[in-house]
Amino acid sequence: MSRVADKVVLVTGAGSGIGRASAKLLASEGATVIVTDVNRAGGLETVQQIGGNARFEEQDTAKEADWKRIIDDIMAREGRLNGLVNNAGIAGPFPSSFEGESLDQWRRILSINVEGVFLGCKYGVPALRASGGGSIVNMSSLAAFLGTPDLSAYGASKGAVRQFTKTVAMDCARKGYKVRCNSVHPGIIMTPMGEHILPSEKARERTRQRVPIGHFGTPEDIAYGVLYLISDESRFMTGAELVIDGGMNSI
Ligand SMILES: NC(=O)c1ccc[n+]([C@@H]2O[C@H](COP(=O)([O-])OP(=O)(O)OC[C@H]3O[C@@H](n4cnc5c(N)ncnc54)[C@H](O)[C@@H]3O)[C@@H](O)[C@H]2O)c1
Repeated sequence: MSRVADKVVLVTGAGSGIGRASAKLLASEGATVIVTDVNRAGGLETVQQIGGNARFEEQDTAKEADWKRIIDDIMAREGRLNGLVNNAGIAGPFPSSFEGESLDQWRRILSINVEGVFLGCKYGVPALRASGGGSIVNMSSLAAFLGTPDLSAYGASKGAVRQFTKTVAMDCARKGYKVRCNSVHPGIIMTPMGEHILPSEKARERTRQRVPIGHFGTPEDIAYGVLYLISDESRFMTGAELVIDGGMNSI
């Protein structure tokens, strides 16, 4: 139970779903977890479920000032940052084709899903470096590989996260920073976001039949991938894509 012992790890959007499961698993494997979210009640609930080794901070990942405050605070209080999980994200209204998408809606989704990840890397990397190196996990999606006609801005945002992850990984590697950066690509996971995209049992059944492994994933299925990438077990891995999707990307 110590795969990430003594590591300080920041998990954004950890008040729900995949972020919460990742925060809980990281803490159960010995990490001190900083849980952040715009949803205060959800974040506090995660910390309570962890029951020690965790604290909550309110953070909007799309806001630069919030990143400065959170990272400064971690360096002042915990004295180090060893891992960063850029998990916070939104899907936006469903369905939304590009022809119907408003520019405001498009920008809102990209500002959280892409600019939030950019800011996380921009402010996280110096702290990870100052802590002797570390690992960043950027939460992308299966949507980064496919056309997503009903989630146009979301698909574009996750494609950007996939590519930007490699840029950060290569830049850190060539500069000798000892900071790794990888993306995780979940398939369909039954979190509040997954339920929002597939609201009816009929839609779920239809979609479930398209998953080669025969069922949807759980937040814990993704959390195990996050744990591996944050741990030193993945020390030779950077710029990689970890697809956890029940086989959907192989169809
Ligand atoms: N559920 C899926 O099927 C699925 C599939 C692929 C990728 N993902 C990705 O996984 C990540 C987590 O999704 P989830 O399914 O757990 O969704 P979720 O809606 O259950 O959780 C997302 C969390 O992010 C928080 N959040 C939203 N905007 C924020 C902001 N600006 N700043 C801080 N926190 C913010 C929300 O309050 C919420 O607690 C997202 O990036 C999502 O795109 C999910």
